[in-house]
Amino acid sequence: MGLGHLLNHNHNPGTAGLTIDHGRSYDVFGAAFFGGRRDRVYRRLAELSGAGPGDRVLDIGCGTGYLTRRLAAVVSSGTVVGLDPSAAVLDHARRITTDSNCTYTVGVAESLTAEDDSFDVVANCLMLHHLPEDLRPTALTEMRRVLRPGGQLLIGEFRPPANRIGRHLVGALTGPAMEHNPIHLLEPMIADAGFEQITLGDLHPWIRYVTAVKPGAAG
Ligand SMILES: C[S@@+](CC[C@H](N)C(=O)[O-])C[C@H]1O[C@@H](n2cnc3c(N)ncnc32)[C@H](O)[C@@H]1O
Repeated sequence: MGLGHLLNHNHNPGTAGLTIDHGRSYDVFGAAFFGGRRDRVYRRLAELSGAGPGDRVLDIGCGTGYLTRRLAAVVSSGTVVGLDPSAAVLDHARRITTDSNCTYTVGVAESLTAEDDSFDVVANCLMLHHLPEDLRPTALTEMRRVLRPGGQLLIGEFRPPANRIGRHLVGALTGPAMEHNPIHLLEPMIADAGFEQITLGDLHPWIRYVTAVKPGAAG
């Protein structure tokens, strides 16, 4: 049994996604998995999101709020909402968050309750592979809906090792969703959801990021 089985659960009644309930264990695992580079990678993701002072940001599948807090730092006078189906992981996130512009709410990526056009930036990291494949396009359409025209999307996803042995090790440790994560589909899925100006790149270790813009900003 991999660690993924201990950390992930699929009995949350609100979603068919794999949720995380044990925030402290997840952060210990995350620190080890990133080999001391987790903070650097997530700060860079916050920069790449394009969020700036005063922005309203939504972090979907925020888990313990590791990215949420780094987004809160870049928006300063703005606000960041971290959203996750797991009330337990959000309780943990609230306990360890001191940023006053950061709040957390229960919700699911595939059916957001936010108004249309209500965020400047929508971000998520290591979330999409927690959804069944058929829900991923729905979640991307929802992200587009709640972004304002001209608003930016940032997605960070797990980039499986290029070699077979590395992939097997990841699979043994975390489970099949990460071992076989189809990150080559990210760009076409994001384009199909109606985003434009798509850029992508890799952060080391493990992360493929994609940024994109919701069309329709007033010129
Ligand atoms: C691997 S964790 C990533 C947490 C955080 N974004 C990070 O990078 O540390 C994936 C998160 O997605 C959440 N999740 C699962 N199903 C979801 C859904 N349907 N909608 C939104 N989040 C979901 C899980 O509860 C978990 O907190």
